[in-house]
Amino acid sequence: MDASVADAESAAGLRLMARLEAFAQFTDEPRRLTRLFLSEAHRRAAHAFIGWCGEAGVKAKIDAAGNVVARYEGRRAGAPALMLGSHIDTVRDAGWYDGNYGALAALGVVESLSGRDERLDHAIEIVAFGDEEGVRFRTTLTGSRALAGNYPEDILDQKDADGVLMRDALISFGGDPERAGSLRRSGVAAFVEAHIEQGPRLEAEGLPLGVVTAINGATRLEVVVDGVAGHAGATPMNLRRDALAAAAEIMLAIEERACREPDLVATVGRLEAWPGAANVIPGHVQFSVDLRAPGDANRTAALADVEPRIFAIAETRGVQASIARSHEANAYVCDSSLVAGLAKAVEAVGVSPRLLPSGAGHDTMAMGRLCPAGMLFIRCKGGVSHNPLESITVEDCAIGLKALTQFVRDFRAD
Ligand code: GLV
Ligand code: MN
Ligand code: MN
Repeated sequence: MDASVADAESAAGLRLMARLEAFAQFTDEPRRLTRLFLSEAHRRAAHAFIGWCGEAGVKAKIDAAGNVVARYEGRRAGAPALMLGSHIDTVRDAGWYDGNYGALAALGVVESLSGRDERLDHAIEIVAFGDEEGVRFRTTLTGSRALAGNYPEDILDQKDADGVLMRDALISFGGDPERAGSLRRSGVAAFVEAHIEQGPRLEAEGLPLGVVTAINGATRLEVVVDGVAGHAGATPMNLRRDALAAAAEIMLAIEERACREPDLVATVGRLEAWPGAANVIPGHVQFSVDLRAPGDANRTAALADVEPRIFAIAETRGVQASIARSHEANAYVCDSSLVAGLAKAVEAVGVSPRLLPSGAGHDTMAMGRLCPAGMLFIRCKGGVSHNPLESITVEDCAIGLKALTQFVRDFRAD
């Protein structure tokens, strides 16, 4: 390979790694990365992203749903676009790479093309989605769902834990709740997301890259359990209607159901109990359930078991349960020609192409409703993610960018 090309590729990898580090400084909490959807840190990160796009020669803006979007024209203005990107919101106490890698890698691809004034037959669009994690509001994927024409407008009246309406947060961020539901895109030939694997398979096999075949479907529930608050000292055990003890039994029943099938996973990740005092029997509990499987039928069957079980446990314990679905996404099978194209690009950068499914959810599943969609995975240390210990090497960072750039150059829109 030409030494100047190799130098440029390694410089691009180093620049991406440095940006990921700089980007991690946009946080809502000191000393840890927490960048929730439409927060002040998200706003500052979005503006930094827009600034970096400007330096790379592309004009970026915040769209009505809170995504950062930019377009790098092809040889012919108005040509169909290959859209690249991922999300820039994070979980609480997050790692630096989940989502951010794919958003900044998209920018890195455009930057290297634009630096050489290289135009392709297709345009490239960059997107940094804002709402993939679903931590702040009880919703998720609203940025990608907006572009796919599937925006859930009823969520605009949801409040976060501080009582802030999503509609108001979106306005302060620079979005437009009145137009968020009409962002459905035309002219997008395909969507491709680069993302860390968030699992251990690539590392175990000594491979830096993988190509995603399919993404697990997911259902999220909000379960409310109402019992009777009472005196922790004066109420005999047989006369209690303890909402938290009932929730605990429900959680174990959900866990037991998930353990019965190899690829089914279920998590209670958030639980709140009221009134929350050591000397009061909890009278009211609310918790989330996240249930995922590669097969929609397996997920649906598990839900069909879990929901009546929740009501049965509640009845036995003399408490009331209610269940609401806050998110439902079917499994997405990645577009086969994108899988083949990404595998070819991975091979072209000297890596044996490994095809694998994704247990985590991604904006790709929402974009798959609009256009063919696919994903490139980058190895991460120990498969650890949603954790500040998330880590990638600079070499893997660079080879991921190189494979993505290769894919973009070889892509044909027709
Ligand atoms: C996103 O990270 C998800 O899979 O929940
Ligand atoms: Mn992610
Ligand atoms: Mn995540």
